[in-house]
Amino acid sequence: MKVIITDSVDEMAREAAGRIAAVIKEKPNPVLGLATGSTPIPVYNELIKLHKDEGLDFSTVITFNLDEYVGLAPDDKHSYHYFMKENFFRHININEKNTHVPDGTASDLEAECSRYENMIDDVGGIDMQLLGIGHNGHIGFNEPGSSLASLTRVKNLSEDTIEANKQYFKDLGWMPNKAITMGIGSIMKAEKVLLIAQGKNKADAIASALEGPVLSMVPASVLQQHRFATYVITREAALKLKLSYYDDTE
Ligand code: F6R
Repeated sequence: MKVIITDSVDEMAREAAGRIAAVIKEKPNPVLGLATGSTPIPVYNELIKLHKDEGLDFSTVITFNLDEYVGLAPDDKHSYHYFMKENFFRHININEKNTHVPDGTASDLEAECSRYENMIDDVGGIDMQLLGIGHNGHIGFNEPGSSLASLTRVKNLSEDTIEANKQYFKDLGWMPNKAITMGIGSIMKAEKVLLIAQGKNKADAIASALEGPVLSMVPASVLQQHRFATYVITREAALKLKLSYYDDTE
């Protein structure tokens, strides 16, 4: 596993964006797995910059987002559909038809989950999956206790996650308590995985994921069993790591 420790969030964003850009340049029809939340925003900004300044071409890129809240329509400001459009897609030359986010308003959610998983398989799988990490070690909305072999399905959000994300729902007056999420098994199918984290409030989760045992109570720890997993994290997020050689791994 590669662990790159950066001195700033900007550097984390540049490192991560550079790796994503490399995949885009190297494949004819690159398939990216994308994440939402606060951590990827600077990475998306950096990719937008690469598009505007250096002509990074997204016209053949296919994307699949990790998750979506159950009960939020795509045009709802709080949905991850909306988040992706606002923070990324509308600023680049991606074909909207090539962007995918699970449909949290599907009448048959179970069918929607299998449709989503199959769609990813049908395009040949994800070349690079971008991930954030929850304070509780979740990836996607695979909360502690999730099966390490799980595929796309509906999950109840943990109290921890509701606490962390309720700030985004202040004006709505309610917050969904379920989400459709790609499973841990779905994430593990990706060719490469890139996990980003910043801030000292992620330090415990990062230490358990990287240096603790692989266990379903820390979903990100399963990446220890992935062949091409890279962590790009700030020095603050790396604060609780015990091994000292990470700086030299790149
Ligand atoms: C979002 C997602 C979540 C977030 C995680 C960290 O699509 O899958 O796992 O990556 O909750 O969120 P932030 O970046 O807001 O700390």
